[in-house]
Amino acid sequence: MTTFLHQRQQQQKPLVDAFPLSPRSSSFNYVFHHRTSSLFGRSGLLFLLLLLSLILLLCVFMPWIRPITPFLFSSSSSSALSHWREYTLTQAAAFVGGKNGTIIVCAVSQPYLPFLQNWLISIARQKHQDEVLVIAEDYATLYTVNQKWPGHAVLIPPVPDTQSAHKFGSQGFFNFTSRRPRHLLDILELGYNVMYNDVDMVWLADPFPYLEGRHDVYFTDDMAVVKPFNHPHNLPQPGKKGRTYICSCMIFLRPTDGAKAVLMKWIEELQLQPWSKKSRSNDQPAFNWALNKTAGQVDMYLLPQVAFPSGGLYFKNGTWVKETKGKHVIIHNNYITGFEKKIRRFHDSGLWFVEEYAHESPLGRI
Ligand SMILES: *[C@@H]1O[C@H](CO)[C@@H](O)[C@H](O)[C@H]1NC(C)=O
Ligand SMILES: *[C@@H]1O[C@H](CO)[C@@H](O)[C@H](O)[C@H]1NC(C)=O
Ligand SMILES: *[C@@H]1O[C@H](CO)[C@@H](O)[C@H](O)[C@H]1NC(C)=O
Ligand SMILES: *[C@@H]1O[C@H](CO)[C@@H](O)[C@H](O)[C@H]1NC(C)=O
Repeated sequence: MTTFLHQRQQQQKPLVDAFPLSPRSSSFNYVFHHRTSSLFGRSGLLFLLLLLSLILLLCVFMPWIRPITPFLFSSSSSSALSHWREYTLTQAAAFVGGKNGTIIVCAVSQPYLPFLQNWLISIARQKHQDEVLVIAEDYATLYTVNQKWPGHAVLIPPVPDTQSAHKFGSQGFFNFTSRRPRHLLDILELGYNVMYNDVDMVWLADPFPYLEGRHDVYFTDDMAVVKPFNHPHNLPQPGKKGRTYICSCMIFLRPTDGAKAVLMKWIEELQLQPWSKKSRSNDQPAFNWALNKTAGQVDMYLLPQVAFPSGGLYFKNGTWVKETKGKHVIIHNNYITGFEKKIRRFHDSGLWFVEEYAHESPLGRI
């Protein structure tokens, strides 16, 4: 495993930065580092045993202490890193989802860390960062997040293989495109509510008060056309392609049979219908067919457009943005392609917090 890491570090330059050992990474790490060094003195073992039993006692008698236990593993680099390899979804879900039974989920690979950072800052402003679970799509992301913010990232094996994903219609392709609904289903099976977000989103307000009622699945429309303020909340009529344009970028699901049925159908649709080479990793059409086919048995809720506009509306219709000022909740930076363009657009709209407000992120500066 050490060898593996070493190789990866040599191959991919960015990985070097993925393991910052400087004390700046976390003051807690720093303190702990100092402690552990002295632990290996003569009476070190006894002290260590004492410390461990004390922690064990605390965990048993004061379960709310539990959230700090992952800090234990962030102390020294390689043993800590190997620990995170063993960290399971069940453990991670129990860690972040203990409070309200809701887990805010995203799935991120290393190139998207700046977007993760931006998204996290916006969530921290709404005081919901404790419920965030990052599904790491590579080990670099797993280690970076957990080193800075222990317990908040998990890697669900196997690592998505982007190489084999290119073999269109293959098992690798299916594995790659279906990973998102599979992970969400896994979390529902554990009994948690899931708030899934793409990380090219920004929270301007707390979305949870908008999740009215006890519906199975909540989603947003990806259309750019302005809807009436009081539009209905059921699944819209299919569009030109015979299907709806619901966004797979933000989905809230309760751990109900209905929500699970949607995810299972979504996985099935992905397996049945490899779309086209162009939309290789686009799982949104399959999600829409899944909604279409389960609509009769599932309680669905379309969130208000004014609060959850698509990027095609928010970034392209200034009149609308002015008219609806103060009513926006989550902004999605879509209807644009390219990493740099997305960052520039967030930046130009005052929604890029990464440089100036890194201290507000639970990850600190990365
Ligand atoms: C958790 O509960 C608190 C208090 O009821 C509420 O304000 C908050 O929005 C809830 N969080 C989630 C993620 O549901
Ligand atoms: C697909 O995923 C399964 C397990 O989920 C794994 O065993 C298999 O190797 C993967 N196949 C490819 C080609 O990635
Ligand atoms: C499902 O899609 C078909 C084909 O476009 C359409 O005729 C039907 O009305 C849709 N059903 C629902 C519930 O939206
Ligand atoms: C932009 O928003 C305004 C105000 O809501 C609306 O009347 C207009 O139709 C929208 N323009 C486009 C191109 O959708």
